[in-house]
Amino acid sequence: MKDKKIIIAIDGFSSTGKSTFAKKIASMLNYLYIDTGAIYRAVTLDCLQEDIIKSVSPFAIDMDRLVERLSCIRIDFTIEQETGKSITVLNGKNVENRIRSMEVSEAVSQVSGISEVRSFVDSILKKFGEKKGIVMDGRDIGTTVFPDAELKIFMTANTETRAARRLSELRSKGDTTTTLEEVTENIRKRDEMDQNRKISPLRKAEDAIVLDNSEMTIEDQMKWIKSILK
Ligand code: DC
Repeated sequence: MKDKKIIIAIDGFSSTGKSTFAKKIASMLNYLYIDTGAIYRAVTLDCLQEDIIKSVSPFAIDMDRLVERLSCIRIDFTIEQETGKSITVLNGKNVENRIRSMEVSEAVSQVSGISEVRSFVDSILKKFGEKKGIVMDGRDIGTTVFPDAELKIFMTANTETRAARRLSELRSKGDTTTTLEEVTENIRKRDEMDQNRKISPLRKAEDAIVLDNSEMTIEDQMKWIKSILK
């Protein structure tokens, strides 16, 4: 296992703890961790900032400007010195907190359903995959981006657990106003959109192993993955 670097694809529903799990696996194996949802979120944030997306009702996307804008978007990841946390960088700026806001969460499923956006993100992801030794989490990594990934995991958990997790993430980032009901509704809407969009819908790859972590701690999940990696 130590010698042969592989691609680990982790897909699943939103707020199932994919990123926490993926980061831990990456650090255990000394692999690179890529949060693909963060890339879709950064594209969405950029379009909101540029007024390409109007988030106040009626919600609207200027498609021509969005497609044109993609060539101006640069997304990177860096590690924060003090905390060791992975930070998403959009055109040179740390946007890690802003991409997790409710405004971005409300718009990202629509943006990630656009074929030009998916091709743009896929080209970034494929570059990361060239050297192997990566853990990538998202919705279509095992099905579309890396269908030949050596290990595929599909994560799920019940809605209550997922909503509680997302709310606590928002609180830790300083959001004191969003309610549990709003988060639950957002999760429900995103499940619906992620599973039903035309391009690369969220679905389990045939050869993916399912992990339902509703009742599992992160330690339980690490034991589980160690037994699989063996
Ligand atoms: O994992 P997340 O909640 O941060 O993802 C944000 C959105 O991006 C989610 O609603 C679906 C989309 N996404 C996607 O379509 N494909 C991926 N590989 C990753 C995320």
